Amino acid sequence: MTDLSADAWDELHFPRPGENGFDRVVERAISRRGFLGGVLAFGSGAAVMGGGALTATSARAQTSAGRFPFVPIPTQTDATVHVPAGYHWDVVARWGDPLFSDAESYDVAEGGPLAKSDRVFGENTDGMESFSIRGHQLIAVNHEHANRRINLPAAQRGTPSGVDDVRKLQNLQGVTVMEIAEGATGWGVVRDSPFNRRIHHNTPTRVVGPAAGHPLMQTAADPTGTRVLGTINNCGSGKTPWGTYLTCEENFNGYFGMTASDGETAVSTPEQARYGIGARDWGYHYYKWDPRFDLSTNPNEPNRFGWVVEIDPADPHAMSVKHTGLGRFKHENAELTLAPDGRVVVYMGDDERGEFLYRFVSHGIYTPGGPTEGLLDDGTLYAARFNDDGTGEWLPLTPGTTGMDRARICIHSRIAASAVGATTMDRPEWVAVNPGAPEVYCSLTNNKNRGVKPNAGGDDTPVNGPNPRAANRYGQIVRWRPRGGDHAAEGFDWDLYVMAGNPGVHRDAYAGSANINAGNLFNSPDGMTLDRNGRIWIRTDGKDSNRGDFAGMGNNQMLAGDPVTGEIARFLTGPKGCEVTGLTWSADRRTMFLGIQHPGGSWPDGSGLPRSSVIAIKRDDNGPIG
Ligand code: FEO
Ligand code: CA
Ligand code: CA
Repeated sequence: MTDLSADAWDELHFPRPGENGFDRVVERAISRRGFLGGVLAFGSGAAVMGGGALTATSARAQTSAGRFPFVPIPTQTDATVHVPAGYHWDVVARWGDPLFSDAESYDVAEGGPLAKSDRVFGENTDGMESFSIRGHQLIAVNHEHANRRINLPAAQRGTPSGVDDVRKLQNLQGVTVMEIAEGATGWGVVRDSPFNRRIHHNTPTRVVGPAAGHPLMQTAADPTGTRVLGTINNCGSGKTPWGTYLTCEENFNGYFGMTASDGETAVSTPEQARYGIGARDWGYHYYKWDPRFDLSTNPNEPNRFGWVVEIDPADPHAMSVKHTGLGRFKHENAELTLAPDGRVVVYMGDDERGEFLYRFVSHGIYTPGGPTEGLLDDGTLYAARFNDDGTGEWLPLTPGTTGMDRARICIHSRIAASAVGATTMDRPEWVAVNPGAPEVYCSLTNNKNRGVKPNAGGDDTPVNGPNPRAANRYGQIVRWRPRGGDHAAEGFDWDLYVMAGNPGVHRDAYAGSANINAGNLFNSPDGMTLDRNGRIWIRTDGKDSNRGDFAGMGNNQMLAGDPVTGEIARFLTGPKGCEVTGLTWSADRRTMFLGIQHPGGSWPDGSGLPRSSVIAIKRDDNGPIG
């Protein structure tokens, strides 16, 4: 991957159309002060949630475990994982570990042979879900990106020199479905399990839903517009009630480039520019060796990425399916729930500065064991509008509201959401539904452009209710309750669960909300899952310099949050350089599986290359863990 983050890369290559006046930004910020006070104290929100104001609970996080069954741990800046006393962790699978016996000798330090690169656990784990199938414990794991410098010969400095290099990078990304088992030495991969499977950038995939077959989805290699090779930049995940895995394509734009100009002068269409698609890729250079990634000859190929993809972990021969009904954007995760009448509701964030939060509501009803065809495609896509008074609405994206036909609404969802005036957000990452209450949480990871620059479509990004701080470096978590407890309802009421910040450095809103204190500092909330007890597990992907604005925050981490009291406590710290990603549990809930992406140092081996891995966390007494 490029040395820049995906969002920094986008900005460099797709400069925003203009800037807001500084005076206007300041004016907005000042006018927000009164409202911020309400948010900080949680005002009426706390009463609605049935708990006390956050100010009352913030001090407790330091001195008591509260509702948490662990004693919070301090920050760390070292190169390993830390968990509370009474817990331990172990590695389940590392990048390059064989899924099949014939790949046993794959050695990441030696570069690993191309022929076996789709027979090993991929690199840079992200979203992850657990499946128990006929007594077998499976996990499906995303591999978001590949480190070009490490996977290619050192002399090439991360630049592919031919199609074999490209194929290897393509093989190490995508998804792993694997059976795992717990033995005397802990959890490990069941090698050669018939469930083991890699889905990568060249795996045949079906396209269904409103955009399937549309001219914008057709290419010379696939004139039907219904058959795509592969899934790309697999970030967050989801799980359906019918037992399938959802993998979400995020920064797919970084894989496309143009040979015609060799990446220097070609101009993107407005639609391509909105998605950050243009002449220069991130450095994978697929387009030089694999023509379908060359926009000069295959301008429609990127339209076939940026989707949510369904995988059946129970059937290793089943083809993956791209669901165009769920819209095309930089998908973080896909959080499924059911409306009281059985309609399927999917909440989804578009992780880019100033982009939107989406919801899909199916026309059909899910019944256990009943047909599922169309439940992720036949329905209505919505984008969220948050009002400053704590209310909000889901704005339907229809031909009537957008002036676009249904297929184009799906292919260019960002443009449709701009047309209806949805609220620009501070990089929506994971969305998580509380299984015990009609309540939804979304991580808004950070947005240095809030109040400074418009989004890629030119939409203004003023300081607003759920995004209350200009040049937001810390991030926040917004939550909403659907009206009437119905996830399909048009309206909702929202508040902020937490604003990350640093009270040791700032005295204003950048100090964070009242449930932030010296004992639980973090920045950039990203992955988020509510467990069956209603605890919120918050994973971070932020600055780990531990200096300046980020002093006292240490390495990226996982914290637990109490949705009622607002209390937040640190449970785990990751190795320096990493982000903490996917989270899921074993069927018996005695093991928590967690992803560690792009670690630094020599983690986890203690020598040699750092290797992104899935770890297992257990209580020493083998009790349930969430
Ligand atoms: Fe792949 Fe927005 O994180
Ligand atoms: Ca993420
Ligand atoms: Ca992130």
